[in-house]
Amino acid sequence: MSTRINPSILTADFANLEHELGRISSADLVHVDVMDNHFVPNLTFGPTMVNRLQQVSPIPLDVHLMIDDADRWAPGYAETGAFSVTFHAEAASDPVALARRLRQIGSRAGIALKPGTYIEPYLELLPEFDQILIMTVEPGFGGQSFMTDMMPKLRRTADAVAASGLDIWLQVDGGVSLDTIGIAAENGANTFVAGSAVFNVGEPEEQIVALRAAAAS
Ligand code: DX5
Ligand code: ZN
Repeated sequence: MSTRINPSILTADFANLEHELGRISSADLVHVDVMDNHFVPNLTFGPTMVNRLQQVSPIPLDVHLMIDDADRWAPGYAETGAFSVTFHAEAASDPVALARRLRQIGSRAGIALKPGTYIEPYLELLPEFDQILIMTVEPGFGGQSFMTDMMPKLRRTADAVAASGLDIWLQVDGGVSLDTIGIAAENGANTFVAGSAVFNVGEPEEQIVALRAAAAS
């Protein structure tokens, strides 16, 4: 099973993002947290910024939309050429139609769930998605503590994906570190987003290597 490490640039130096991208060359994808100050109480990048990041990044972008009215705005992010676009289940009125639109534009379609949102209603829609993001913190900020109590939800999702036979990536985001990546992997995650654990602890390239090894052990 392949393991993907996707550093989140939320905790990178926003004044030097092109330089920061050069410090994570062994990453699988670059996780870009889009926040609108409505769905979450924080504000980051918009489509113009994501488009420019896409142009300068040697690594494909994994865009995580923490924005209201995803049905309206998510396609514009896929149109930047982003490798994957993940919207929140809580912010989309028609997740299936939106996922189909994202795929039609050429991006992988992802659905994300806040900690309080059950996965069960979405398990019958698995073929519509390329990846599922189980949040392990309340979305909005980097540097929070990993919610171990999300592991049963992660396991139920992993079991359903395995039973479906589909190649759907299972992603965790929030508080992923050398201490927590192992339990997420044990519960079926194969794609790991890490912000502080990559950018705030020593050399980012070394942290990516260490996280990859910890996920596999
Ligand atoms: C949180 C974001 C995360 C964040 C993770 O809402 O979606 O991607 O950057 O940061 P850490 O790894 O510091 O918890
Ligand atoms: Zn994220």
